[in-house]
Amino acid sequence: MSSLQLALLCIVLAPLAQCQVDINVAMMGQIYSNLDRSSSPCANLWAHSCGNWSGNYMDNFERAEASYAKAMALVLSGTHDKEGENATHLLQQIRDYFASCVISDQELQLPHELISGHLEWTNAAGRLRKYGVNGVFLDESVDVAYNDSRRYVIQLKMPAQNDHLPMATLSPELQQLDRELRELCRKYRREEPTLQSWTLGELKQQIPQIDWKNYFEALLEVEPKDDQLRVEVSDVGYLRELGTLLQNRSTTSLQLYLTIRLTSFARKANPNTGLWSRVHSCIQHMRAVLPLGMNYIYDRYVYRTRSEDTRQLMEIFTSLRRTFNKYLDYNHMELSPQELDYVRAKLAGVHLKLGNLPDATTSGDFYDSHYASANFSRSDFQHNFWQALRLRTRLQHAPLLQHGAVLQPELYYLNDDVLSARNAPYFEHERNTLTVPLIFMQWPFYDYRLHSVFQYSLMGFILGHELMHGFEQDGILFDATGNESELGLQLRQQPRFQAALKCVQKTPTASLKERLADVNGLQLAYDAFFGIGHDSQRFEYRPYDFERELLAPQLFHLNFAQFFCGRLPLAIDHDMDDVRVNVAESNLKQFSTDFNCQQQAPFTGCEMWRPST
Ligand SMILES: *[C@@H]1O[C@H](CO)[C@@H](O)[C@H](O)[C@H]1NC(C)=O
Ligand SMILES: *[C@@H]1O[C@H](CO)[C@@H](O)[C@H](O)[C@H]1NC(C)=O
Ligand SMILES: *[C@@H]1O[C@H](CO)[C@@H](O)[C@H](O)[C@H]1NC(C)=O
Ligand SMILES: *[C@@H]1O[C@H](CO)[C@@H](O)[C@H](O)[C@H]1NC(C)=O
Ligand SMILES: *[C@@H]1O[C@H](CO)[C@@H](O)[C@H](O)[C@H]1NC(C)=O
Ligand SMILES: *[C@@H]1O[C@H](CO)[C@@H](O)[C@H](O)[C@H]1NC(C)=O
Ligand SMILES: [Zn+2]
Repeated sequence: MSSLQLALLCIVLAPLAQCQVDINVAMMGQIYSNLDRSSSPCANLWAHSCGNWSGNYMDNFERAEASYAKAMALVLSGTHDKEGENATHLLQQIRDYFASCVISDQELQLPHELISGHLEWTNAAGRLRKYGVNGVFLDESVDVAYNDSRRYVIQLKMPAQNDHLPMATLSPELQQLDRELRELCRKYRREEPTLQSWTLGELKQQIPQIDWKNYFEALLEVEPKDDQLRVEVSDVGYLRELGTLLQNRSTTSLQLYLTIRLTSFARKANPNTGLWSRVHSCIQHMRAVLPLGMNYIYDRYVYRTRSEDTRQLMEIFTSLRRTFNKYLDYNHMELSPQELDYVRAKLAGVHLKLGNLPDATTSGDFYDSHYASANFSRSDFQHNFWQALRLRTRLQHAPLLQHGAVLQPELYYLNDDVLSARNAPYFEHERNTLTVPLIFMQWPFYDYRLHSVFQYSLMGFILGHELMHGFEQDGILFDATGNESELGLQLRQQPRFQAALKCVQKTPTASLKERLADVNGLQLAYDAFFGIGHDSQRFEYRPYDFERELLAPQLFHLNFAQFFCGRLPLAIDHDMDDVRVNVAESNLKQFSTDFNCQQQAPFTGCEMWRPST
């Protein structure tokens, strides 16, 4: 075993006191082992930083997933509990689910209720939705009202683009149906569709082509009253035509269509697929479908450094916030006083959350009873799988049926329809909240013992990226309380704002908002660490005791870039990782100075919020 491997093992497994090696020395070892010195940082920072990436993993996330799964597997396969533990029922439920998952190796059967019986399309679509299958003909989800982030509503819209059948194996009749559905989507797809806010009663009047009573009865298992549900509907034209299109379809072709959709969903959701061991796949699957239970157990039994991490994360975050406030003092965007107040209030209101768990709930009872309606067996994975999906849908929809349907922030956690759990931090506009998943709080991303240059260049950048999502072209529409705001819309029309959107698109991007978050987030993290207007040439750097060759700014860039190391290509909804690194750095004025690059031309990068000094 190499000394680097030994050092890493030591760091991952033992407290520092028992280790011979300093964690920062180990970090440097890792940084050097990824470097490809044959390519120039000035020409391609990503290639320079990651060219010798030799991990057995696809990327850093896969590495974090592997150690998460290992730790959780130990807890979930255990049988003995310590005296006086809380939430023992929940732990038992999760252990049963895990046990059944690990031994199962079958294709998933479809639940009897879903493929048999009375077939009328709204009823069938409602039943599928009840089992977590979304986007069959239409997309239904529980969200909060656009103008009141505390009020639960149902959102209805056309399905996402990619949710169509593979054409090859279909009968002509099915191909015809699929073609018509695609055609319909194409016809009505809009960049920003208009939103209608209606009661259920109004929905029935406005879109009578669809039998909503049937749909919601099948989904919710009760008939909601006409004034009980508030619905927000996009794509009204689509839904009207959809109703007409499906009205007179033959039962057999509908049945076949639904079975194909359901089978493809089951295949995607089944943890059997992929390169990983069954244990690993089961843990990842359970993180996605049972987030509350898995996060609670990880927090309770595995995660050991919450208090140090919280303190440090808050420190980094506070420093980012302070830096952004200083940007606003310069007011590069030329905002009116009212607009400035809006941005400052939003910034002050951002809530940082460590772990996707309710804020205020420390009582084991809450966790113990949260999944009470589920009955998992130790041997029947089929049964557990569909129950877990149903449970998730039921928990999403339960508050809608209560009086007032008001979100309780202290009990809120994210429980949406994902099939693979989030690893990276995320920002929720409606709650003005930045959540860092617990899986992210570990090597190679983070360790509270690491030097601040490592923390600011990775965690600082990630938090900066997420924070800046609150201020890009979509995020800016939401105010400090998470309501959509006229003022935000007005702000977005400001010439300087529009110019910044244009500026970062000088080279094409797969996602404008991701690019803005990258560019602005890197500037923010750099300024938070080095100070606004920093100029490396004016400093005589004292070498770190763990590193004699690379200077602080160079370490900063390399560690930032190495967050994105891995085997290309990997991008979904983002640009490729090499593009992300290189574009973000090319918009950071100090980058070329920090690496003594030959500067041919004056800096032409984009600075949106950052003062031009
Ligand atoms: C890449 O890493 C290996 C060890 O993993 C090392 O022997 C080699 O010198 C490195 N190559 C470069 C170009 O740095
Ligand atoms: C939000 O909008 C709906 C309909 O547009 C309206 O009925 C409701 O009163 C509004 N709520 C708030 C808090 O303004
Ligand atoms: C914004 O949302 C809050 C709840 O988060 C609500 O009480 C308030 O009425 C909304 N404000 C406006 C202007 O609609
Ligand atoms: C559907 O069938 C009914 C009667 O069975 C008929 O009145 C109606 O026009 C048909 N609609 C379409 C869109 O074909
Ligand atoms: C169990 O929960 C109670 C509150 O419900 C709390 O006071 C106690 O510390 C918890 N025990 C453990 C071991 O977490
Ligand atoms: C729980 O599920 C098992 C099948 O896995 C079943 O035998 C048992 O009756 C169920 N219990 C309840 C209370 O639903
Ligand atoms: Zn992002």
